[in-house]
Amino acid sequence: MSADRGITEDQLYRIMYGSIAFEMLHAASELGVFDHLGRNPGSSTQDIATALGIAPYPCDILLTGLRGLELVLGDETRMTNAPLVEQCFVKGEDGKHLPFIHEIVNPGMSEFIDSVRQATNLGLRHFPGDGTSLYSRLESDPDKLRSLHEHLRATSEATLADLVATGALDNTRHLLDIGGGTATNAIPLANHYPDLRITLVDLENVVEAAARAIDSHGLSDRIDVLACDVFNDPLPVGADTALLAHMLPIWSPEANRELLSKVYDALPDNGQALLFDPLQNDERDGPDYAILFPAYYLTIASGRGTFYPWSTYEQWMREAGFSGFQRFEGLAVAHGLHVGTKQR
Ligand SMILES: C[S@@+](CC[C@H](N)C(=O)[O-])C[C@H]1O[C@@H](n2cnc3c(N)ncnc32)[C@H](O)[C@@H]1O
Repeated sequence: MSADRGITEDQLYRIMYGSIAFEMLHAASELGVFDHLGRNPGSSTQDIATALGIAPYPCDILLTGLRGLELVLGDETRMTNAPLVEQCFVKGEDGKHLPFIHEIVNPGMSEFIDSVRQATNLGLRHFPGDGTSLYSRLESDPDKLRSLHEHLRATSEATLADLVATGALDNTRHLLDIGGGTATNAIPLANHYPDLRITLVDLENVVEAAARAIDSHGLSDRIDVLACDVFNDPLPVGADTALLAHMLPIWSPEANRELLSKVYDALPDNGQALLFDPLQNDERDGPDYAILFPAYYLTIASGRGTFYPWSTYEQWMREAGFSGFQRFEGLAVAHGLHVGTKQR
């Protein structure tokens, strides 16, 4: 999204017809086109139609679209997946983002204009219930809740190796995973650090799902879960490190200041807070994901959050009492890690 380059006509049409482009990608993933081409590179449209049981006419519409979008390479007689498609959708887990975008982001985003006008998350109209955030509304919709947490799991799978590689958790004995979801981070971290104990806090239905996932990985002896509304209940004490992964972008600056102050109070001397999130670049014009996704926070998730800059996190941590800041930049999926220490 560089200002000096200017958009091309093709890029403009990809935005105007972006919902169709998304459905091409989603359909190819769901119907098994990418998996088929991964196993059978060089297939024709006819081969794919026969193998997947799709009639020739819709198969031609789909494959022509996929070639135009350069998700699939070649001509209709002989095609392969683009290398990035092979990496992300055949070998990788990026397909797990698509139901979340299809069922939650796209319906909710149809309320973007009204949300901008009224400065609130009117996308919640698409999710029955009385809660003021998507998270509380999805407590009564297990299918969409699963889609949200599969998206989060795929994000963790793409980013957690980079978090571990920073070494920031190497000396942690007891981690408090705040808004830890369905243990998307806690399970791989417990597997990576065999002596690590974790307490995961989240909303009630979410910790129930987390407990099932933890149990199925045989980690119930090292990962505890606790139903805790972090804004209305006290945070548990006893952990030496607090992880806030994909938590602060949901909330307003005021709510985040309050939360970081509670985190500070819950930590012992020399305890550390780890903030792990996508970040916008300093010019605030990229990467694309970090520029576009905040509209989801406004319209759907909470009506308040965004991806904040590094300096804002440091400012909030300083106000809460933390010092000794460390930054780890350039991690996968536009992520960065911010560490602050409670030094008295
Ligand atoms: C974007 S998800 C991040 C999940 C996980 N940390 C990760 O990185 O995948 C935010 C989490 O915050 C939880 N959450 C939202 N409001 C909360 C509240 N008031 N108290 C505790 N958890 C909350 C949601 O249920 C959700 O699991």
